[in-house]
Amino acid sequence: MGLKLVMHLVLILMALSATSASRARELLGGGVFDVTSAKYGAKPNADITQAIANAWKDACASTIPSKVLVPKGVYKLKEATFSGPCKAPIELQVHGTLQAPPNGAQLSKPDTWIMFSYLDRFTLSGFGVFDGQGQQAWKANDCHKNPKCSSIAINMRFHAIKNSLVRDVTSLNSKNFHVNVLACEQLTFQHFTVTAPGDSVNTDGIHIGRSTGINITDSHIATGDDCISIGDGTKQLTVTKVTCGPGHGISIGSLGRYPKEEPVSGINIKSCTLSNTMNGVRIKTWPNSPAASTASDIHFEDIIMNNVGNPILIDQEYCPWNQCNKQAASKIKISNVSFRNIRGTSSTPVAVKIVCAKGLPCDKVEMTDINLKYSGNQGSLTSQCANVQPTITRVSNPLACATKS
Ligand SMILES: *[C@@H]1O[C@H](CO)[C@@H](O)[C@H](O)[C@H]1NC(C)=O
Ligand SMILES: *[C@@H]1O[C@H](CO)[C@@H](O)[C@H](O)[C@H]1NC(C)=O
Repeated sequence: MGLKLVMHLVLILMALSATSASRARELLGGGVFDVTSAKYGAKPNADITQAIANAWKDACASTIPSKVLVPKGVYKLKEATFSGPCKAPIELQVHGTLQAPPNGAQLSKPDTWIMFSYLDRFTLSGFGVFDGQGQQAWKANDCHKNPKCSSIAINMRFHAIKNSLVRDVTSLNSKNFHVNVLACEQLTFQHFTVTAPGDSVNTDGIHIGRSTGINITDSHIATGDDCISIGDGTKQLTVTKVTCGPGHGISIGSLGRYPKEEPVSGINIKSCTLSNTMNGVRIKTWPNSPAASTASDIHFEDIIMNNVGNPILIDQEYCPWNQCNKQAASKIKISNVSFRNIRGTSSTPVAVKIVCAKGLPCDKVEMTDINLKYSGNQGSLTSQCANVQPTITRVSNPLACATKS
């Protein structure tokens, strides 16, 4: 009896405080900005570009935390810029599917579909899908052989975003990279999904550059290019519990192609599974780099490889399509790199390749508990190493840099 009464009182109090909270939010201009409300007028199966822009503008001006909501449904979105600074923490919650124009020529900025910029305490959430509709763009992509090829849209760019979270959403079939992170600090991707076919061109999952404190965790990335690619100026990156495949694996670099690149350091990749990827975990730098730089404190631990090509790879002679002078050495100094507890199957006989720069050997490379089997029949398991003297613990002989290149 007494307990029941207390429960009732609690419920009444909760209802009252919820009412006054939402009333307060209304008065202060915060709360939920639903793009399908009468004020913004978005309708499923129609274009919501203007509705979403208007709702964002109002939410961003709110002095208390606010949320822009895109409910379930399929919507066309020509393009969007979610720009700050906003007056208070802000969330974009997407439960619907947003479709980009299939023809990239319709975008005002040909290299961007959706831009998030200059935000602090931002959350992107919801179980929605950002569909780049890239099929047409992949067919037209000739950038691997045409350096002057026209720009192709990245699904989502994060520029100067701080103390923020991206969770649960999916990036689907981007025309180019799915996500590009630039000049960000303390940005976490959690339960993030990337989906595109294994043969889609240049569709890297998450590319990071010039950013500090990025976390990627509990995420699934299936795409046509690198799962995660780590560009110059990346510091304190943590990647945990990510699955990759299909795609090209997790890659640091390429580095050393352009002048004025910044060092890469503090990279921790842990508890990840790669399946049927072209490469495993790698560091790649171009020969003949225009300027010196470094890549250091890079650790790969507890990684499962399922039928992965080149599972462990450091390549300082990276020169696709012969776009460089291979005779001149790379000027990127690699040091303090460890590979610990890497196990599973390699689809190439060379399961370990550590080819460092001539005259600039890699320092402090460690391989511990490497247990890889070859899943093919083109010879037997081996390793290839140059300009490096790794510290080796519990690694079978064929993988222990036995063969000098
Ligand atoms: C990022 O991940 C690391 C390691 O799991 C964790 O200690 C840290 O708190 C995370 N940072 C954020 C901002 O979530
Ligand atoms: C190697 O990297 C780890 C982790 O980033 C760091 O704690 C350690 O100090 C580095 N060791 C050297 C010799 O630089």
